Amino acid sequence: MNNVIDLILKRKSIRAYQPRPVNPDVRAQVLQATLRAPTAGNMMLYSIIDITDQAIKDRLAVTCDDQPFIATAPMLWLFLADYQRWQDGFITGGVPEICAAKNEPIRQPGEGDLLLACCDALIAAQNAVIAAEALGLGSCYIGDILEHYEEHRDMFLLPKYALPVCLLCFGYPTSEQQERDQSTRFDERYIVFENRYRPLDPPEFEEMTAQRHKQIFKDRPEIGGSQNVAQYVYRRKFSAAFTQEMNRSVLAMLTAWNTP
Ligand SMILES: Cc1cc2nc3c(=O)[nH]c(=O)nc-3n(C[C@H](O)[C@H](O)[C@H](O)COP(=O)(O)O)c2cc1C
Repeated sequence: MNNVIDLILKRKSIRAYQPRPVNPDVRAQVLQATLRAPTAGNMMLYSIIDITDQAIKDRLAVTCDDQPFIATAPMLWLFLADYQRWQDGFITGGVPEICAAKNEPIRQPGEGDLLLACCDALIAAQNAVIAAEALGLGSCYIGDILEHYEEHRDMFLLPKYALPVCLLCFGYPTSEQQERDQSTRFDERYIVFENRYRPLDPPEFEEMTAQRHKQIFKDRPEIGGSQNVAQYVYRRKFSAAFTQEMNRSVLAMLTAWNTP
């Protein structure tokens, strides 16, 4: 099999790291690969904050839904959707003057610009994940960086048009993590459609989640084997307190972005 495909198929999220720093040459290669990611309009609508301060790592381990392993990651990168650099460049580069000359209002970044910048940030992040994997470095996304926007904004001195999208933990995997089973995925017939969208009917959803049901409830009667996967995911993920905080926080981000 092709080496790149093999690497992608074998990757898994790594949440426990050997207590050793990331080799500087490895870090440089991961960064180089990250910055070569495709980017909308070749504008690089993202920034990366390399978090080296242990006090900040310790705090993120709390603010990102109490995940202590975050503090142990030897390399921790925050990916921001970033229009601030271009917005500042527009202002200093004479855009207000050309708009005034044409009697046109100057536009501010809108929701579409934000979504595009989020795409840029995530695509760069995934390049980092694959490059890291190729160099023996494990990684794990932290989506909970979307929570507590106000604290993260103040912590990283984020301007209005730079918003957190994801946090990536990197480190050399422990042997237990290396040996751990890979997680499963839903079959492609539930995910990939031809030409147009097709909602799943209830039995198909049951079918899709049957294997997940075995994994979640196997040997764990205490979590309620009478639930189905939909009920479990709804309670544990979708309506959990951390998800509610995420939605509050993201609304605050959108409000900040859209406030003139
Ligand atoms: C957007 C996103 C957010 C995630 N957030 C977290 C997180 O906060 N904590 C965590 O331990 N894993 C997180 N993960 C990792 C997923 O749990 C993991 O990818 C999934 O369970 C599949 O496992 P695998 O990556 O080992 O194949 C996140 C992944 C993605 C793509």
